[in-house]
Amino acid sequence: MINNHKFVISLNAFLVLIILAVNAHSQAVNPLESDPRAARLGGSIFRAQCATCHGADAKGISTLDAPDLTMSWVERQLSEEEVFQTIREGIPGSIMPPHTFNDTEVWMLVSFLKSVAEVGTTNQIAGNSDRGARLFSSNCSRCHRVDGKGGSLGPELSNITGRRSQDALVRSIRNPSANITRLYKPISFITVGNESVQGTIKSEDAFSIQLMDSNQVLRGFSKLDLRELRREEQSLMPSFTESSLSDSDVNDLLSYLQSSRSP
Ligand code: HEC
Ligand code: HEC
Repeated sequence: MINNHKFVISLNAFLVLIILAVNAHSQAVNPLESDPRAARLGGSIFRAQCATCHGADAKGISTLDAPDLTMSWVERQLSEEEVFQTIREGIPGSIMPPHTFNDTEVWMLVSFLKSVAEVGTTNQIAGNSDRGARLFSSNCSRCHRVDGKGGSLGPELSNITGRRSQDALVRSIRNPSANITRLYKPISFITVGNESVQGTIKSEDAFSIQLMDSNQVLRGFSKLDLRELRREEQSLMPSFTESSLSDSDVNDLLSYLQSSRSP
């Protein structure tokens, strides 16, 4: 374990001030919600106790299958109370351990995670959404569904502006391989029957693998039937540079995605 004596001592003075404000752990509302120090102190605990698995920026470490915690709120719709319980109890059957922090420390962690949470695009994107719709159908819809239409090699994008900031969306379009979405990790292999298969991996255990292949068919394979299995670093989404989509094209596309956002 990491030696954090000094840290604990410096925390103590602060804890005494707020300990009275903290009730039983079943409380659904974070009692430290309005205290800006809580997120800062939670960040220190996080870096000491959680970053080895979740990354110092809480964005997850994919080789450990430790999720991006900035997405827990909008993508997985976790409440503060659920995050509190998960930190305390861990997730049975996974490497996510239970923790013996006191309630105040757990709420500080919750405050920190809230402070780094993805909140989606909050501004109105300036662009021509009709033009964006046309750009989308010629460049993107073979892999992405919006409003029930399109392919499914990539994730559904109907509500994507509610889950990702404008900057994050631009980065996904310009440089998809920099941050590959969970459940869309690229994989390739050759079967014993000499078929070469490429796709995005959906689930895997010791014996089998399920993927969406590049023809957008969900398929399952026994690992005994595969050779040259490779976990690729390159997303199956092509990068769109400025020569294929200008910045104003990208704004039009995002404006279309924002306008198609279902309620
Ligand atoms: C040994 C590695 C490890 C450590 C240390 C660890 N976690 Fe996790 N954590 C995981 C893994 C793996 C999962 C996903 C488990 C699953 O869903 O099967 C997870 C899941 C979670 C989730 C649920 C996220 C979601 O969106 O579903 C939260 C919240 C979380 N961890 C917070 C923390 C915090 C806070 C700490 C530090 C106090 C911490 N974890 C320490 C590995 C770790
Ligand atoms: C050949 C298929 C393909 C095409 C064409 C394609 N994408 Fe993707 N896209 C993917 C895949 C696969 C992923 C998931 C892996 C990743 O994150 O790179 C993805 C991920 C994304 C994400 C991130 C989603 C998230 O959950 O964060 C965005 C945004 C996105 N694509 C937008 C677009 C836009 C806009 C276009 C058209 C300009 C486009 N894509 C064209 C396959 C494609």
